[in-house]
Amino acid sequence: MSAEQEAHGGILCVGLLCIDIVNFVERFPAEDTDSRVHEQQWTLGGNGANNMTVLNQFSSHNHFFTTLCNDALYPMVQQLLLKSKINTDLCILRDDCAVPLSTVLVSDDTGSRTILHYRGNLFEPTIDEFSRKIDVQRYSWIHFEGRNFDETRKMMEHVRKHRGSDRLPRISVEIEKVRPAPTLEQLIPGADVVFLSKDFARSRGFFDMESAVNGVFGLFASPETTVVCAWAELGACARLPDGTVVIAPAHSPSKVVDTLAAGDTFVAAMIHYMHGGADAHTALQGACRIAGKKVGQRGLFGLV
Ligand code: ADP
Ligand code: FRU
Repeated sequence: MSAEQEAHGGILCVGLLCIDIVNFVERFPAEDTDSRVHEQQWTLGGNGANNMTVLNQFSSHNHFFTTLCNDALYPMVQQLLLKSKINTDLCILRDDCAVPLSTVLVSDDTGSRTILHYRGNLFEPTIDEFSRKIDVQRYSWIHFEGRNFDETRKMMEHVRKHRGSDRLPRISVEIEKVRPAPTLEQLIPGADVVFLSKDFARSRGFFDMESAVNGVFGLFASPETTVVCAWAELGACARLPDGTVVIAPAHSPSKVVDTLAAGDTFVAAMIHYMHGGADAHTALQGACRIAGKKVGQRGLFGLV
């Protein structure tokens, strides 16, 4: 971290926490069949929580802003938060809600992950809660998962309004979910760095990562925005504000074991490297290395 960033503090992540019930199966089942799960793990999930689990392996001054549910599973969530070293001082704890649950199938065959996400009655954080709890100037980077759309847009506006003339904290947003246009794209102009998923890119008619960063920049971004897109085994690329496109290849492990949260790992590692002052190309190379390590193993621990 540069001295300037040090003075401003660390990274804040705003996003979802859920529980992932990860079922390891030999191969993805056919519909209406009955097959065995040979191993099951209950882990912390949600893009925000996954970003934090990875960021905390690089450094310890990161904070998380999310909704936690004071339900029967909360003691387990607390244990999992501890394991990921996630500080929840800023989180909102709600009664009368249940933690969202994902049922995930990870296939030994291909390492693919298939997610069935049940969000239940979670009431996500509001702009009022954000502005009450978050001292914007305390951070040098604030990352938003692109969800909870109306409130997230207001939170991003709030950060832009309250940040310093040095444009710190930097604002990043992940545009991953496939939603009917125009929703998530409206978050793009408010960010300094935009992370696109290949699923979002395809849903908007871009079928490779370079077309995606150029196309999304042209359609939605502000002139000073960096647009990043990861594309599984093809690696990732970034379009810089001057129009240069830089590309990094994937680091393929000898066997792809588990791709669950590969994208979240990539985003967290990119934020870590860029926050530390790396140029976009170096950051892409580092993030593809960490994400490649992730897909070669189960879970998100031991990546750094
Ligand atoms: P998501 O989880 O959002 O679908 P991606 O599949 O685009 O994310 O992957 C994010 C990053 O993870 C890629 O840029 C790449 O570095 C790494 N990655 C994902 N799948 C593979 C793979 N099969 N082999 C090597 N690296 C991979
Ligand atoms: C992975 C993930 C999982 C979670 C799902 C929520 O990117 O965050 O941990 O179950 O996506 O959409």
